[in-house]
Amino acid sequence: MAIRPILRAGHPVLAQVAAPVPDPTADSVARLVADMIDTLDDIGAAGIAAPQIGVPLRVVIYFMPAHRVTARPGDDPIDLTVLVNPELQPVGDGRYEDWDGCLSLPGLRGRTTRWERIRLVAHDLDGARSERIVAGSHARIVQHECDHLDGVLYPSRITDPTSLAYVEEMIEAGRMPPKVPVHPKAHARKQPALLRRLERAGVPLV
Ligand code: NI
Repeated sequence: MAIRPILRAGHPVLAQVAAPVPDPTADSVARLVADMIDTLDDIGAAGIAAPQIGVPLRVVIYFMPAHRVTARPGDDPIDLTVLVNPELQPVGDGRYEDWDGCLSLPGLRGRTTRWERIRLVAHDLDGARSERIVAGSHARIVQHECDHLDGVLYPSRITDPTSLAYVEEMIEAGRMPPKVPVHPKAHARKQPALLRRLERAGVPLV
């Protein structure tokens, strides 16, 4: 396991369409996910896609800390989730606007409009295929991370360009609450199947 450098907007890998993972159960995919968890934990954020550490494959990880849960239907805390070859489709035509931030655009936030409910199909590291409906903030984070797999960064989803702003300035101005530290590894430790898979691949979570 290793903390990897996070690519920033402008790097060509972030603008390309990532390739499907041929075998989600391969040890190399588990090792990639281990590096993504290490990198996410080091920076203290809620989601990352493989292209952001320079690997153009369709893999994302994310979790939903309790303090990010809103009153919207479907908003619940989520332990660390791995999606391999995810596909999503909107359910209904409801959309809503909220803040987006991205490790590849450090320090910035912008208001984007995203689908309220989506149907999400993905594989996990054991090769199991799941299909579920997700909504609210969960749906937003999945849409953000899956956009990375198609070379899309959130500024192209911004509806009001004047909303793009630095987090520190907005906190200073009282327009955004102070940041709450998050701990991705603590959320990963609540996923026994994920822990077993990383251990089998020789990259146990430490
Ligand atoms: Ni991002």
